[in-house]
Amino acid sequence: MSTLGIIGSGSIGSAVARLAVAAGIPVVVANSRGPQTLTGLMDELGPLATAGTVEQAAAAGDHVVLSVPLTAVETLDPHLLDGKVVLDTTNYYPSRDGRVPRLDDGDVTCGELVQEHFPAARLVKAFSNIVAPHVPQLARPSGADDRTALPIAGDDDTAKAEAAALIDRLGFLTVDAGTLADAWRFEPESAAYTPIYLADPSTAGTADAGPGSPRPALPPVAPPRRRHPGRRRGPAVLTTGRLPTEHAGEQTARDRSARRMSGDLA
Ligand SMILES: NC(=O)c1ccc[n+]([C@@H]2O[C@H](COP(=O)([O-])OP(=O)(O)OC[C@H]3O[C@@H](n4cnc5c(N)ncnc54)[C@H](OP(=O)(O)O)[C@@H]3O)[C@@H](O)[C@H]2O)c1
Repeated sequence: MSTLGIIGSGSIGSAVARLAVAAGIPVVVANSRGPQTLTGLMDELGPLATAGTVEQAAAAGDHVVLSVPLTAVETLDPHLLDGKVVLDTTNYYPSRDGRVPRLDDGDVTCGELVQEHFPAARLVKAFSNIVAPHVPQLARPSGADDRTALPIAGDDDTAKAEAAALIDRLGFLTVDAGTLADAWRFEPESAAYTPIYLADPSTAGTADAGPGSPRPALPPVAPPRRRHPGRRRGPAVLTTGRLPTEHAGEQTARDRSARRMSGDLA
């Protein structure tokens, strides 16, 4: 395959970059501070990796991983990713990103919001429901009998098929979770978010990783949010479970939070 552009060299971007070079895929990696700040990562990744500007990473090939904080998305050129298949890892964490009323109200998913910013990109939500340390722990070559599945979602079926083929090379099966509007099923606070991967013995102990270990995603933040009440369609099947047909995890957290506030829960 052609070169993979990676915008964002943090926990998830660098984890995907490591999988890509291990699979023989050249990468161009960019961050906010410029290629001169990426020498350490380039040394680690080896000859298949090049540090570039955001524009160089976007232009490097047909596929781009977008792995930046949500607040950074609006700083990027809306035409930066025109025509590209974009694996969008972005999540919304109000504690980090500030409040976004349309997300709080469930009017749009995070993926729809990013797609709005890049209208001509072929956006596929991917690597957004797994914490960075689990990415190398759970990646397996094609044909292994203990592979893990990641949900993907997007409005362009061809882009989703291309993303699935790429993710297969990177080490994971995929489950088509539907359109970008359906992507709430594996957003933070959903039952298909990060804890489902803790069931895999390969990830045992990750939650207690010591100093110096990669930092897992921020924990879900509490204030209850109304999420897509009209979008509760049929379930999609994961290899190890099901995507939720409703926000069971969020419901539980909301209930617990409400009960805690009223002093009902020890
Ligand atoms: N960490 C996880 O386990 C995890 C799991 C799933 C999804 N996610 C989501 O994936 C996204 C990335 O998460 P992360 O944990 O990898 O974040 P991170 O470690 O904080 O890294 C963010 C990266 O984005 C870069 N960046 C920020 N603004 C940019 C801009 N305007 N242009 C280019 N690059 C920019 C940063 O550049 P600098 O290095 O120069 O600051 C950094 O390399 C987030 O939306 C997060 O919610 C994270």
